Parts: sequence; structure tokens; C-alpha cells
Amino acid sequence: MASPLRFTGDTLELLDQTRLPGEEVWLRCERPEQVADAIRRLAVRGAPAIGVTAAYGLVLAADGSFEEAARLLASTRPTAVNLSWAVEQGRQVYARARDSGEDPAAVLRAWADGLARRQEEADRLMAEHAAALFAAGSRVYTHCNTGGLATAGSGTALGAIEHAWGRGLVGEVWVGETRPLLQGARLTAWELEQAGIPFRVVTDSSAAALMARGEVDLVVVGADRIARNGDVANKIGTYGLAVLAERHDIPLHVVAPLSTVDLDTLSGADIPIEERDPSEVTGGSPALNLAFDVTPHDLVASIVTEAGVIEPPYESSLERAVRSQSLA
Ligand code: MRU
Repeated sequence: MASPLRFTGDTLELLDQTRLPGEEVWLRCERPEQVADAIRRLAVRGAPAIGVTAAYGLVLAADGSFEEAARLLASTRPTAVNLSWAVEQGRQVYARARDSGEDPAAVLRAWADGLARRQEEADRLMAEHAAALFAAGSRVYTHCNTGGLATAGSGTALGAIEHAWGRGLVGEVWVGETRPLLQGARLTAWELEQAGIPFRVVTDSSAAALMARGEVDLVVVGADRIARNGDVANKIGTYGLAVLAERHDIPLHVVAPLSTVDLDTLSGADIPIEERDPSEVTGGSPALNLAFDVTPHDLVASIVTEAGVIEPPYESSLERAVRSQSLA
């Protein structure tokens, strides 16, 4: 899977995902404001990847107005909790380094590298656990982009699909194009092509017909924030897929690291939903451009994290998983 970022010490380079698949252009960020701008305009996107990106953005802020940069980075995208989670950790790391007389830039750099490594490890474990959800030759439908581009590791849902394919468990992947910004048709298709996995892109509105024709065995998606009760915020359109999947008796599984689980948010109703510029949707007409929706927990068959496959009732199982990980 392609990596969306590389850090050289004083420069964070980001693969500009708005230009993919046509062009591979690397953006050079030397200041946290440039990192914030890249996150806001989706040059880098996907909940875990923006958490890791913000961590390196804080390294660039270590010798400047740190708190201002932290606030700016955290404000760029409100729904993906990995972002505020990483920025909050970075604040604590910075304060400890400063109070103990260490070099904040060096300490933050080691922390950001560690965060990236832990995400890679979480991705590997999620893929292994998720294999249990596939049967030989499964036809799997996925939405948005959840591969390496979205995590800086091997991916969540798409990483699980790639792993399952390697074990003969995937026949074909249906890729919802993911309106309005086509993360499916542009990015997931690009990653699947590189991995040599058979896939076909479909318009988002084809999902119902595909399911009715019996051409989908399971739906696997990622998440931007999972509330304590198991409600899942993910790319707009996921809720519709979940309703359709239930109607056709098809399981919908969510693959996401524990850094996406937010026990402080009680239910989906409390998750802030990002609204983006109408110009992404129309050429001038008024528009409501919701970036995410919330799938109620009763439509989610399981949530796969690095701690294993978590099943309902989520209220207790998610808390147990988070607790087991913080003790590990
Ligand atoms: O707006 P995006 O492209 O950042 O939305 C991304 C998603 O909705 C993904 O499904 C989610 O972040 C999980 S990525 C591993």
C-alpha cells in the first residue's frame, strides 16, 4: 500500500491525494499552517492518517507557537477523532519535555514516529482478525478509501480486504465511487490496481441493485469516530449502505483502530459532523455538503480493532477492548 507521508526531519512531505490517480505530487510542508491547510483540503485524509500527519505537524511547531499550532491542527476536521486524540497526546508530550528540560522537537519526533509505528501494527492486527469475517471467494462491497493512503500503514477496511485476498477469501471487490470527492473511484481503485486485486467501481446508487441481485456477500468499511454505544461516523453514504445491507441480510463490518473509538462520546448524536464547501458538490447552486453520516450500532455486525473482533452489545465490549489495550 502507498504511504501518504514521509518526514525528513525539518520537512513533512505529503502525497497530494487530490491529484491522484492522475499525478503523484508531493507537497513539502515546513510549517504547521501548511500541514493544516493540506488536511483541510483533503490532500491528506482518512482518520488515522490525519492523526499521524498532525503529530508530525506538531514536530514542526516545537520551536514556535506550539499551542496555536495545536489548536489550528485540531480544528481542521471535526469528525475524525484520531486528529484531536493525536493533538491532545502531542500537547502532553510537549509539556513533559519542556518541564523536564528536554528538547521538545526531538521528543515530539520520537513520539510521532512511535504513533506511526503503532498505527502500522494496529493495521496488521486488524487485518489478521478481520480474516475470520470472510468466506472463500467473498464478494465484498467497500466505501470511501481505507487503504494505506488513509492510515499511513496498510489500511483498515481495505487492508483487511487485501489480507483476505492474499488468503483466497476475496473473489471481487465492489468499490463505491464515493460522491462527492470520489475517494473510492480515485483512491481505492488506484490502491486495488496496484495490489492486483480484482475490483469494479460502481456508482454509489448502484449498491441497492447489486445487493438485490445477490452480488454482495459482505460490506466492509472504516470509521472516523465510534461512539461509546457503537454508533459509527464514517463517510457520507455509509448509513445508506447499512440500511440496504440489513434489508438484504448482508452483514456490514467496521474495521477501525481503538484510536477511532471515543468513549467520551456517548452516542452518534453527539458526534460533530463536518460540513464542507457547497462548491465541492455544485457549480453554484445552494448545497448541503455533509462529509459524514452516522450508522446506528444495531446495523453494525461487528467492529474489528487491533484488540480483536468486537460484537454487540458494544457499550460493554468497546469499553473492555479500550481498557485491555491501555493496560497492555
Ligand atoms: O473525508 P475522508 O476522505 O477523510 O473520509 C475518510 C473516511 O470516511 C474513511 O472511511 C475513514 O476515515 C476511515 S480511514 C481508514
